[in-house]
Amino acid sequence: MKRVDDFRLRLGKQELVPIMVGGMGVDISTADLSLVAARLGGIGHISDAMVPTVSDRRYNTKYVKDKLKQYKFNVANTDKAVVQFDLGLLAEATAKHVGNTMAAKRGPGLVFINCMEKLTMNQPRETLRVRMRAALDHGIDGITLAAGLHLGSFGLIEDHPRFRDAKLGIIVSSLRALQLFIKKTARTNRLPDYIVIEGPLAGGHLGFGMDWAQFDLATIVSEIRIWMAAEHLDIPLIPAGGIFTGTDAVAFLEAGAGAVQLATRFTVTNECGLPDEVKQHYYTASEEDIEVNGISPTGYPMRMLKSSPAIGDGIRPNCEAYGYLLDAKGGCQYIDAYNREVALHPEAKKIKVLDKTCLCTQMRNFELWTCGHYTYRLKDTSVKAADGSYQLLTAEHVFNDYLLSTDNKIALPEPG
Ligand SMILES: Cc1cc2nc3c(=O)[nH]c(=O)nc-3n(C[C@H](O)[C@H](O)[C@H](O)COP(=O)(O)O)c2cc1C
Repeated sequence: MKRVDDFRLRLGKQELVPIMVGGMGVDISTADLSLVAARLGGIGHISDAMVPTVSDRRYNTKYVKDKLKQYKFNVANTDKAVVQFDLGLLAEATAKHVGNTMAAKRGPGLVFINCMEKLTMNQPRETLRVRMRAALDHGIDGITLAAGLHLGSFGLIEDHPRFRDAKLGIIVSSLRALQLFIKKTARTNRLPDYIVIEGPLAGGHLGFGMDWAQFDLATIVSEIRIWMAAEHLDIPLIPAGGIFTGTDAVAFLEAGAGAVQLATRFTVTNECGLPDEVKQHYYTASEEDIEVNGISPTGYPMRMLKSSPAIGDGIRPNCEAYGYLLDAKGGCQYIDAYNREVALHPEAKKIKVLDKTCLCTQMRNFELWTCGHYTYRLKDTSVKAADGSYQLLTAEHVFNDYLLSTDNKIALPEPG
């Protein structure tokens, strides 16, 4: 019976353990988590979601405070078009986050950055260009383009000296999205080095509609594999979403996948950036406590715990401080929803906004608990301490469990 450790991912000249820990913003897949994956010979991800904010927390910078100061005059204004990111400071924040992570990297694996193209930041092309280029400048091993696949992204870094040597990958949820991307980027004469295929059971935003339950990861992977073979394209495929045990992973690897991308199992590790008390909510969740809803202002369905404090919270939009989801015209679906509720309840001190959430603020404050479908199985991966709480795991323990387990077994931690 095979184990994940019997397989290797070939990326260019490199041979890697076929385990990729997926990007989880905002700073849920921390530098520490990514560094464990790299040390053990796999691939870890940091995330470029709200990097200036992350830098403030990690490196004592003041990007958020300074931006709020600069745009304070606009806080009560419903029009946010004036709120722009300073591209130089954005590059500086990315340089800090990426540079510090890469300087700490040890071992044979790689650290990539998950770059969410839906973070349009009131200047989609310019901010994405700066984020990707700064990451390449500061030594990131690779970039995974996610959430809202911007078809011109390769073009934004085409003239960068590392364009052909850094690993570039994309996340898709359908054959059609992959075909579109390959067609649109043909001009750059550069194919992705790997393709993450994210199915409907993943955490974060989904690349499906509210009919997500009709889709199945293995079927999508096999459709893509057949098309790639017909096109004579040889690019590692990396399925993601609901791969909960080493045995689940082996099934995909035996069917020809290059590696697997995993996230949910790592949300209850010490290295994961969620606060410890939130990790306990993940452990104790039952299947009924998890939903896919439409409250993300990106327009994509998102999976989360129903008990997330963000749901219904009608806080004032915080775009002057954050503003990561402002589109090219300074709009965001949450601003519209919030203004509608304020107009409907002019006397209310506190309003509720049920249909949308202020994603920047809620993710920044760890009040929106996005999670994978199988979060309700996390309780089976650990032991309870004397006080009734579940024991957090080390990322190394979870990584090695995927690597070595057979028969769908999950190794429990030593009680400690
Ligand atoms: C808490 C959490 C946050 C996530 N955030 C992101 C993200 O910011 N960008 C992204 O591309 N995927 C994100 N994902 C998706 C993961 O990277 C990964 O592809 C997927 O969850 C794998 O499925 P699994 O969680 O069942 O292992 C997130 C997943 C989780 C659980």
